[in-house]
Amino acid sequence: MTPRQRIVAGNWKMNTSYVEGRNLAKEIADRMQPTDTKVILAPPFIHLNNVGNIIRDLAGLYLGAQNCHWAESGAYTGEISARMLASIEVQYVIIGHSERREYFHETDEQLAAKVNAALAYNIQPIFCCGEKLDMRQAGQHEAIVEAQLRQGLFHLSGQDFKKVIIAYEPVWAIGTGVNATPQQAQDMHAFIRHIIAGQYGQAIADTTTILYGGSCNPSNARDLFRQPDVDGGLIGGASLKADDFLAVVNSF
Ligand code: 13P
Repeated sequence: MTPRQRIVAGNWKMNTSYVEGRNLAKEIADRMQPTDTKVILAPPFIHLNNVGNIIRDLAGLYLGAQNCHWAESGAYTGEISARMLASIEVQYVIIGHSERREYFHETDEQLAAKVNAALAYNIQPIFCCGEKLDMRQAGQHEAIVEAQLRQGLFHLSGQDFKKVIIAYEPVWAIGTGVNATPQQAQDMHAFIRHIIAGQYGQAIADTTTILYGGSCNPSNARDLFRQPDVDGGLIGGASLKADDFLAVVNSF
């Protein structure tokens, strides 16, 4: 099987003051052991420049944003563009997190435009997908995830799609303490890879990194990451403590 890039990304969400964020990034940077896993820190916007400076020359650590706008610039009060992120060397951006879809009503069409905006500035999208509990209970989880991928990503050329990282985050597992079982994660990741193979061919599917997110922490990461199609994690709560985050990073 083709080796895939392993990634652990910390999504800090709307947490940490300036000093708290600086201290967290410094602690992670100071204590991270050499690893083949790419480690991405995705702090709130106010931290990006500073965290970028803290991790700039450190092997294995990368900078991610939690969102970007689809336009390059203009009258969008309060928004941040991919061009702005690129200007401070942001390398990754989370797009389509379920909290953005739910609370900010981001549509598939907007997410597709955000993906394009990120790629235009050479920022790699971490594209989130995942079903709500009622959809899983109704047996609709594969159908909804497939629709999210088709509408948000499958307009891309194969060349561009190769730059995308997928994060499967079942909404019922986010912040609840109830993670998907390793088997549930594996089943969905294998399904996602199958859908990608149908669209872009097996070679691209085999090299696409697919992360699991949703109550992933030091006590369950090892079993989740052991699954053949789980290539790492997108970590919320456990990314806010250096001890926990580094334990997850070291779970492969
Ligand atoms: P938790 O790890 O806090 O469940 O959050 C997952 C998540 O939403 C990461 O993007």
